Amino acid sequence: MEEREGIIILLHVFVFLVALICYIFVRRNQRDSTNKLPPGSLGWPYIGETLQLYSQDPNVFFATKQKRYGEIFKTHILGCPSIMLASPEAARFVLVTQAHLFKPTYPKSKETLIGPLALFFHQGEYHTRLRKLVQGSLSLDNLRSLVPDIESMVVSALDSWADGRIVHTFHEMKRLSFEVGILAIFGHLEASQKEQLKQNYSIVDKGYNSFPTKLPGTPFKKAYLARKRLQKILSEIISERKEKRATEKYLLGCLMNSKDDNGKTLSEDQIADNIIGVLFAAQDTTASALTWILKYLHDHPKLLESVKAEQKVIYQFNDDGHLKLTWAQTRNMPITYKVILESLRMASIISFTFREAVTDVEYKGYRIPKGWKVMPLFRNIHHNPEFFPNPQQFDPSRFEVAPKPNTFMPFGSGVHACPGNELAKLEMLIMIHHLVTKYRWEVEGSESGIQYGPFPVPMHGLPARFQKESIQEKGEVCGACYDT
Ligand code: HEM
Repeated sequence: MEEREGIIILLHVFVFLVALICYIFVRRNQRDSTNKLPPGSLGWPYIGETLQLYSQDPNVFFATKQKRYGEIFKTHILGCPSIMLASPEAARFVLVTQAHLFKPTYPKSKETLIGPLALFFHQGEYHTRLRKLVQGSLSLDNLRSLVPDIESMVVSALDSWADGRIVHTFHEMKRLSFEVGILAIFGHLEASQKEQLKQNYSIVDKGYNSFPTKLPGTPFKKAYLARKRLQKILSEIISERKEKRATEKYLLGCLMNSKDDNGKTLSEDQIADNIIGVLFAAQDTTASALTWILKYLHDHPKLLESVKAEQKVIYQFNDDGHLKLTWAQTRNMPITYKVILESLRMASIISFTFREAVTDVEYKGYRIPKGWKVMPLFRNIHHNPEFFPNPQQFDPSRFEVAPKPNTFMPFGSGVHACPGNELAKLEMLIMIHHLVTKYRWEVEGSESGIQYGPFPVPMHGLPARFQKESIQEKGEVCGACYDT
């Protein structure tokens, strides 16, 4: 009997020891894999470090973290555990070489208002198909034919500002980039349809960054209703164009005429979501870039003089602006072009982008867990002195030498890189040409700084006064005498 009890006790001890060893082994493994997460802090439960991010300039938040933890670090913002990547190689890993392991993610309010079928919410076949169509409609060949219309829009915008009042530059640039977006999507559109689109889209625009609640009277609810009206207007335009059997090269025509391998066309929802998506992608980004360009030129008078000199040659060649700008001329503005590149670097309008790991991913010995957000930090890369010496200095001449690979990504990189980048740059070149050859502008107020809405914009949207310069004699712009 005693011998049996002894065996039972031994068995218990054995089972206990096995369980203990298993427990220690599992804990060690767990700790190992947790240890493999990048350095950083996750802050408070649920809110994480969101308050720290928004209580200061987001760039300071990211830059401080990078200084402390290095080029890859974890944090927890907007309810999501996230991994930030501030090195060119890491950005390339996420956006280009291993892009299939990371899906794009956007806030719910944006997805609902733009429409879930817009290309930037997708990966794989559907994304590739839509992307080809958008890219095709914005090809250099198509953009060439848009030059005269964009020029007319720029000229009439500038004329309307030069009446002595203070202009909210960013708002005005938004109007312009919306007009150009409409042109690239529809080609020529009836004035009444354009007006309806403009009115309703401006309500949708106010909802993008609002809390997604359908309570009556909230900005989101208003935006949601305006989005429904937009769908109806778009549906009418589509029906009209179907009747006319129009086969245009503009985006709407490309979307309407597209057929997949089985001969299936896109649905109206797919077309509408992608049109709203392109309007969204084109408007604030381009307007913000244009506003920064005005600020940088204003703040650097010597540079402004060299841009003026370059543009004056074209202006004089065009019979003092009596002839239209040509596509070839827009492709040969080297000084102006470098000012655009440097403005895009300095302002880094898209400071970072969001992806989500679709599976556990390993990068440089660190684990990126499935479901975590991953954010390549474009601005940190653009402001890293290793790639851009004296990064806070506005110096377009740095672009006389091409930047190192993957260090300059104002338009993103890889499968989701911006298909509208050439259109945006064309708009900027045309704007600068007319602005510096015929106008002067003074920024009102001395307050400098950045506002986020959510794209970075100069403080208060850069209030400025525009005045037309009088031409003293053929080709001579008189800087001292201005029309009053
Ligand atoms: C200065 C102006 C612009 C900037 C800085 C800019 C920047 C960007 C960036 C960084 C991305 C990639 C986002 C990501 O990877 O998550 C992107 C995507 C996109 N952009 Fe732009 N963009 C500009 C103007 C435009 C214009 C004028 C259009 C169209 C007319 C446009 C259409 C798009 C579209 C459709 C996408 C999504 C592409 C995809 O998911 O495949 N953008 N843009």
